[in-house]
Amino acid sequence: MEYFHKPVLLAEVLKYLSCTNGSTVIDCTLGGAGHAEAIIDLIMPKGFLLGIDLDIAALNAARVRLARFSQQNFSLVQGNFKDLDRILTDAGLYAIDGILFDLGVSSTQFDRAERGFSYRYDAPLDMRMDQSQNLTAADVVNTYSKEELARVIKEYGEERWAGRVAALIVRTRQNRPIRTTFELVDIIKNAIPAAARRRGGHPAKQTFQAIRIEVNGEIRVLDQSFRDAIKWLKPGGRLVVISYHSLEDRAAKNVISDLSRGCICPPGLPVCNCGHKPEVKPITKKVVRPTPSEIADNPRAESARLRAAEKL
Ligand SMILES: C[S@@+](CC[C@H](N)C(=O)[O-])C[C@H]1O[C@@H](n2cnc3c(N)ncnc32)[C@H](O)[C@@H]1O
Repeated sequence: MEYFHKPVLLAEVLKYLSCTNGSTVIDCTLGGAGHAEAIIDLIMPKGFLLGIDLDIAALNAARVRLARFSQQNFSLVQGNFKDLDRILTDAGLYAIDGILFDLGVSSTQFDRAERGFSYRYDAPLDMRMDQSQNLTAADVVNTYSKEELARVIKEYGEERWAGRVAALIVRTRQNRPIRTTFELVDIIKNAIPAAARRRGGHPAKQTFQAIRIEVNGEIRVLDQSFRDAIKWLKPGGRLVVISYHSLEDRAAKNVISDLSRGCICPPGLPVCNCGHKPEVKPITKKVVRPTPSEIADNPRAESARLRAAEKL
């Protein structure tokens, strides 16, 4: 199957990264290289892009998509962006002009049935972005306590019926392990009251999202990763974050607003004595959303939110 993922908010990413010939750019979530391809077109012949992804299949597809460019203009690394300090040190890069995070999963990861990300295909419960990682969705579903499962499903899936879904998972696995996506879909459908099931989208959507986020540790790495990324930017360099989940957007918003603050003296002090200086300034006044025509063309873009900041 072709590895195809339509880059979301592409024009906005290019505008806020503001890169030109000679820029050094880090794409922390390379995926199928949709954004990366457009960025390299802008920064070549003198510029350089480093692409990072956890997923070997994504890196292989990206290599094919980027084959028309010279090796002098890009390099790809398998890794977790939480290790950005080590990855950039190993690559010998510094004074970065732009860093992009396009969070979450790609459409191709969803569409490859055997990866177990989708409630639409029957497959082993896997959901690992990095397939060398030990923890799989089957481990989460079969070993987490009822309370842990309820917390994950509530917090990451915002599933109203999290407690009922967790309880039925635990009851079912007392008889036999839950091995496949369709087994989990059946459990979720049986746990959610019929009237609620008829409202909204697919009943398994939120629970699947929650388990995927837990398996890949997606939220807990964000705060530190954004702070690390900002450290590597040169003055005038740009950070751009696209998120698809309220917790991702909140992490980007909090880091940008925290690092934009000047004085951090306690309120009421007559003169500032902290000497604290802001490290970035936000360059998106409000969160940027896709236009209706982008959503019509690419429904996956619907939940996308973009925030950007400039290093001072
Ligand atoms: C939304 S897709 C990116 C799509 C890409 N911008 C494009 O245009 O094709 C997100 C990608 O980030 C990767 N990813 C998610 N979390 C990661 C992390 N912590 N470190 C590295 N890659 C990650 C996923 O494997 C996936 O390929």
